[in-house]
Amino acid sequence: MLDLLEQKKRTAYAEDLNEKNVNQKVTLMGWVHRRRDLGNLIFIDLRDVSGIIQIVFDPKNKAVHEKAHQLRNEYVIAVTGIVNHRTDKNINPDMKTGKIEIIAEEILFLNDSTPLPVQINENILPEEDLRLKYRYLDLRREKLQNIMKLRNKVIYKIREFMQNKNFLEIDTPILMKSTPEGARDYLVPSRIHKGQFFALPQSPQIYKQLLMISGYDKYFQIAKCFRDEDLRADRQPEFTQLDIEMSFVNEEDIYRVIEELMGSIFKDTINVELPKQFTKLTYNESMTRFGNDKPDLRFGMELIDLSETLTSSEFKVFKSALENNGSVRCIVAEGCANYSRKMTDNLIAKAKHLGAKGLAFVKIKENGFEGGISKFLSDSEKENILHKTQAKNGDLILFAADSNPIVFKVLSDLRNYFGKELKLYNPNDYYFAWITDFPLFEYKNDHWETAHHMFTLPKTEDLKYFDDEKDYGKIKGQLYDLVCNGYEIASGSIRCHRLDIQKKIFNVIGLSDAELEEKFGFFLEALQYGTPPHGGIAPGIDRLMMLIAKTDSITDVIAFPKTLKAADLMSQAPSHVSEKQLNELHIKLDINEKN
Ligand code: AMO
Ligand code: AMP
Repeated sequence: MLDLLEQKKRTAYAEDLNEKNVNQKVTLMGWVHRRRDLGNLIFIDLRDVSGIIQIVFDPKNKAVHEKAHQLRNEYVIAVTGIVNHRTDKNINPDMKTGKIEIIAEEILFLNDSTPLPVQINENILPEEDLRLKYRYLDLRREKLQNIMKLRNKVIYKIREFMQNKNFLEIDTPILMKSTPEGARDYLVPSRIHKGQFFALPQSPQIYKQLLMISGYDKYFQIAKCFRDEDLRADRQPEFTQLDIEMSFVNEEDIYRVIEELMGSIFKDTINVELPKQFTKLTYNESMTRFGNDKPDLRFGMELIDLSETLTSSEFKVFKSALENNGSVRCIVAEGCANYSRKMTDNLIAKAKHLGAKGLAFVKIKENGFEGGISKFLSDSEKENILHKTQAKNGDLILFAADSNPIVFKVLSDLRNYFGKELKLYNPNDYYFAWITDFPLFEYKNDHWETAHHMFTLPKTEDLKYFDDEKDYGKIKGQLYDLVCNGYEIASGSIRCHRLDIQKKIFNVIGLSDAELEEKFGFFLEALQYGTPPHGGIAPGIDRLMMLIAKTDSITDVIAFPKTLKAADLMSQAPSHVSEKQLNELHIKLDINEKN
C-alpha cells in the first residue's frame, strides 16, 4: 500500500544534518539506497540530492518497524524521526553523516520500484551502453551527481564573472543558415519553403560578429553547438561553448580575460590556484617540441630531431625518410630499457595503428646500445644520439622516421602514453598554455584551405605574402588556442573586420563570387557598414568540465550524452518518422540495404 504525500513537508536534507542537530525531530525524503535487515534492527541508507544518511528502525516502534520490513532498494520514502548520536563502534568515518543516524518514528511509502536494470554502485560499473540506455538511473550515482553539481557551479561562476566584466548575454538562433566551421551540419528541413533547409549552429560565430557590428562591444553566450563529425572521448555531436566576442581588442586582451576567468573558476570550484598568465608557445614550437598543437605540458619527454645527426645513416628506414623530405625524431622513455619483447611489440603495434610503417628502438644498457636497430647504427651515430638525447643507462629510445605529420602523430601519441604509463605527472596538476601563430592556410587535396576559420585577420607582418601563391603557406593568422593537460580547451581569433583583407582570403581559398554571395552574402554586406576591429574565443564547457571533474570521458560531464555513434540509446533517437511527416516536408527517402 502506497501512502500519499498530502501535506507532509520535508524539513531537512540528509547531508545538511550533523551532530549539532542531535535530538531534533526531522523529516527527510528520498530513496532507499541500501538496506540491512537484521531481523530486529533494520537499517537503511536514505539517499537524497544532498547525499546519504542512516535511518534506524527499532522493533520497539512496532508499526514503523513492520512497515520497514517491506522496504526494498530504490523505494521512495518520507521518514520522520529523531537525530541521534551513533555509538562509538558504529561511527562510519567514510560517511559525511557517519557520526549520526535518524531513529524513525514515522514512514510514508511514496513509491515502490522494480529492481533496477543497472546498479547504483560506484564500484561495479555496468557496461557503457546499458548505462546510457538507463541514463536517468546512472545519473543517480554519486559521481555523476557531484559532476552535475560542479557543472552548475561552473556555469554560475561563468555568468557571474562575465556580468561583472560588463559582457552582455545574448541568445542567437538555433535555426540558421549553415555556418562555416568546417564540420558537417545537422540540417532541419523547412516545411514552408519546399526543398530548403536550416542548419543547426556549429557555433554562433557569424552572429557574434554581427553583434559587434551592431555595437554591443562585449558579448557572451552559453551556446549549444551541433556538429555532425566523427566522435571521440572528448567530442560530442551536441556540446556547449562559452562563446565570447569583444570589440577594439587584440590577442593579448583576449588572453587576459580568459586567464582571469579560468583563474576564478578553478579557485572557486576546486580551490586550485592557476598562474596569473599562461605560458605561450607558437604552433611551430609546439609541433617540434611535442609533436602536436595541444601538448600536455605537465611533463617533459620532448621530441628530439635526429635528422641532421643521421643524414648519412645507412639504415634504410632512416635513409628513405630523409630522402623523401621527412625526418627522423625520437623520444626517450626513461628507465624502460628492461621492456620485454612483448612490450616493445606492443609499442610498435601502437605506432602502426597511428599510421607509421614501424617503430625503431634501442635500449641503452651498461655496455652501450642494445637490441632493436642498434646493429644498423655506426659508433659515431650512437655517440651523437647519446649526446643529443642525453639518454642514460636504462633508457629506451624510440625513433619514428617518416613524413613530418606521421612522425609527429606517432611520437606525440607515444609521449602521452608514456606520460600516463610512467606516471610522469601529478594528475592533480593543471598546465594551461596558449598556442599562437597558427598558419592561416593549409594546402590540402591540391588547393588552399583556411586552417581554422576564414574570418580571421592575418598577422600584419604577413600581409605581404598574399602577393605570391608560393608564400601562402607562410601567412600566419591572429589565431590562438588554449590548451590544458593535452586537451584543446578553447579556440579563437582576431577577426577580419576589413572587407579588402577578407577578399584576399577568399581569393586564396578560391571561393567564387557566386559561392561567396550564396554562402555569406549577407555577412559580407554587413562588414561594409562600419565594422569595428573585434575578436573572440570559445572555450568548450564540456572539455573544461572534464578537466575540473578529472575524467577522461566527455559523457561523464553531460547529463544526457550521445554514444560514439551519435545516438541517444535512452530515447532511441534518431528514429524513423511517419510518412505523413515526411510528406509535409516534401522528403522522399532513398535508402537501400547497401547505403
Ligand atoms: P572551435 O571549433 O575550435 O571554435 O570550438 C571551440 C571549442 O569548442 C570545443 N569543441 C567541442 N567540444 C565537444 N565536442 C565537440 N564536438 C567540440 N568541438 C569543439 C573545444 C574547442 O576548443 N567559433 C569558433 C570559436 C571562435 O573563434 O571564437 C569555434 O567554434 O573545446
Ligand atoms: P624493417 O626492416 O622494415 O623490418 O624495419 C626495421 C626496423 O625499423 C623495425 O624495428 C621497424 O619497426 C622499424 N621501422 C620501420 N619503419 C619505420 C619507420 N617509418 N619509422 C621508424 N621505424 C621504422
